[in-house]
Amino acid sequence: MEGEPVNVNEFQELAKQALPKMYYDFYNGGAEDQYTLKENVEAFHRITLRPRVLVDVSRIDLSTTVLGYRVSAPIMIAPTARHKLAHSEGEVATARAAASCNTIMVLSFMSTCTVEEVASSCNAIRFFQLYVYKRRDVSAQLIQRAERNGYKGIVLTVDAPRLGRREADIRNKMIAPQLKNFEGLISAEVDNDKGSKIEAFVKGTFDASLCWRDLGWLRSITKLPILIKGVLTREDAIKAVEVGVDGIIVSNHGARQLDYTPATISVLEEVVHAVVGKIPVLFDGGVRRGTDVFKALALGAQAVLVGRPVVYGLAAKGEYGVKRVIEMLKDELELTMALSGCPSVKDITRSHIRTERDRL
Ligand code: FNR
Repeated sequence: MEGEPVNVNEFQELAKQALPKMYYDFYNGGAEDQYTLKENVEAFHRITLRPRVLVDVSRIDLSTTVLGYRVSAPIMIAPTARHKLAHSEGEVATARAAASCNTIMVLSFMSTCTVEEVASSCNAIRFFQLYVYKRRDVSAQLIQRAERNGYKGIVLTVDAPRLGRREADIRNKMIAPQLKNFEGLISAEVDNDKGSKIEAFVKGTFDASLCWRDLGWLRSITKLPILIKGVLTREDAIKAVEVGVDGIIVSNHGARQLDYTPATISVLEEVVHAVVGKIPVLFDGGVRRGTDVFKALALGAQAVLVGRPVVYGLAAKGEYGVKRVIEMLKDELELTMALSGCPSVKDITRSHIRTERDRL
């Protein structure tokens, strides 16, 4: 590819050139046959737009509110692991880009910069993503550190009691470098992680017994809003509302966990209907264009999160690359809104798109 990328997809090629194969495969890969990986992107292609004309679109306002926080656009940074594999500045660079774009970054539990390093690097609005560790006291300490350092929400990822089977990582014998948030929390299992495979790490450390009633425990140890990430069905959406979480993220973990789950965009509406407006629904999986953001909003998402494109931007051009990825998606969303007759985010409605189901 020559010159500057003109869309988010072009960062992928740059990242491929910049990264050792093992790391590129780690970021890029999905589970098993990677059916869901392909579908997450392709299902967007099967949704078309229903623009309205002769609306005053001389001013377009992309800004919106997520859990009470004003952001410049409904586009957030998803939690993704190990940014130092992509760039030496790691999650600090990503957070600075989030701050300059005035959006929210969700810091991964598996980050390679500490919660403190990221917090002191900039004033980005930050949420902290949590996996519950077998030793609950370690999880509790991490949450306290996040609270002390001004993180505004806890994102509990619920689709990874075990690690999905990512065959590229198995083939490459992908190793899990030291995860910085655990330093000082002394844990034999985590220290032993040096050089071991990620799957063994997850099996040894994550609490696979975690279930709905444990949300009460989590609620009792933090005052921060709790979102659960990884809901794909109306049944679980209803339970999430019942146990009193503050938000849902419709996600299949970027197709890295259970293969043959549907594309997230094709289950978003089911979840939105199930929660009947009681809590906000966010969305991730396969967002590569401003039109994708528009489609997710039309189906009822309050905002979207972006995973791989951010990591590819980071690998290709550091903080600047992440900033460009978010800006490109914002610019495309702005144009889509103008050409669809939607001057503001709240003007985007279900009637602005047509899904496959609508055509039946
Ligand atoms: C992830 N994801 C993820 N999710 C999470 O809750 N904690 C984590 O540590 C990670 N790590 C991670 C690493 C990499 C390399 C990827 C690609 C993804 C999932 C992530 O938050 C999000 O759900 C997906 O990335 C969204 O899909 P797209 O945007 O990558 O298509």
